[in-house]
Amino acid sequence: LKDLLDEGVAGRAVLVRSDLNVPLDGDTITDPGRIIASAPTISALAEAGAKVIVMAHLGRPKGEPDPALSLAPVAAKLGEVLGRNVQLAGDVVGQDALARAEGLTDGDVLLLENIRFDPRETSKDDAERLALAKALVELTDMGGAFVSDGFGVVHRKQASVYDVAMLLPHYAGTLVATEVEVLQKLTQDSEKPYAVVLGGSKVSDKLAVIEALAQRADTLVIGGGMYYTFLAAQGVSVGNSLCEESMIETCKSLLDRYADVIHIPQDVVIADSFSADAESRTVSVLEIPDGWMGLDIGPESVERFAAILSGAKTVFWNGPMGVFEFEKFSAGTKGVAEAIIAATGKGAFSVVGGGDSAAAVRLLGLPEDGFSHISTGGGASLEYLEGKTLPGLDVLEA
Ligand code: 3PG
Repeated sequence: LKDLLDEGVAGRAVLVRSDLNVPLDGDTITDPGRIIASAPTISALAEAGAKVIVMAHLGRPKGEPDPALSLAPVAAKLGEVLGRNVQLAGDVVGQDALARAEGLTDGDVLLLENIRFDPRETSKDDAERLALAKALVELTDMGGAFVSDGFGVVHRKQASVYDVAMLLPHYAGTLVATEVEVLQKLTQDSEKPYAVVLGGSKVSDKLAVIEALAQRADTLVIGGGMYYTFLAAQGVSVGNSLCEESMIETCKSLLDRYADVIHIPQDVVIADSFSADAESRTVSVLEIPDGWMGLDIGPESVERFAAILSGAKTVFWNGPMGVFEFEKFSAGTKGVAEAIIAATGKGAFSVVGGGDSAAAVRLLGLPEDGFSHISTGGGASLEYLEGKTLPGLDVLEA
């Protein structure tokens, strides 16, 4: 971003791709983390006199306007965080967006409506995406520029992330630059012992990252819903717990190949139904009765994981240990998070890998500054750690 600011942006229209995909309850934003993290780049550009046009998505609309996924609440929150007026266009590249873009004066901020309302954004057809990218560029006058700041979407080959960068002088925003710098530390010069904590519900989503991190880390702690497939892979009965039958063989192979690295819980908190006020008890993983389901890791597991984490010099955490949204099943996630905070206090470098775990930190009232870095990228940070090429970063090199 510094290069662009040094060139001078006063009076220039700058397209910024941000990741403002925040969780909503109706039209209430339950965790504004991504909006707050996106503000510095937008603010720096507006302060420098650019006409800032922000592109962002919310959820996964089906390529057409969906009032439930309008960016209206996001525009309001962004305005509040920036302390300046943020206009919301009623469309993506339609008449309203064009008219508003033309009317911008230096330092104004315009947010386009949910970019995924236009089906070309996520199209697999290069020509379709390029057509949308061209329409976006038309919103800028001569001398336009593109700033990529949506770290959470750099793993997507989409028009506002990838194709626009082919058409305009492009720059990394401060958020993208910081995220890459932090994740590079985890892939290139991580200080040992390196402990990884992985949770979340689906093994199939995390397979590649488990494989990559098991090779790099000294210890890999697994909890959350995906743990039960590992348990099933050991021939243990998991009752009604989440279990991906098709992944059992793969989990067995991971446990065999990384026996010294992978650590799994020995006790769990089980429930008779999936609800906040379900009946619950703590049992050994060998004693999950039929009809019951595991919704959190148990206290002995938390203690063992905390002991592992207390000696770590580098920690990466992605995915909750249980259904932390229900208070009864939040102790595992909270306990592990507190252990990471304690390790950070003793000098460990700790990174929370976005998505649900970042939301858990805030919803459980844990101090955000207890971690070295909380990534805004869920899938993006995992793909980065897998060593994949991320289109939205790759295109910035060109
Ligand atoms: C995320 O929530 O991880 C990013 O905003 C990307 O969203 P997507 O998975 O719908 O592309």
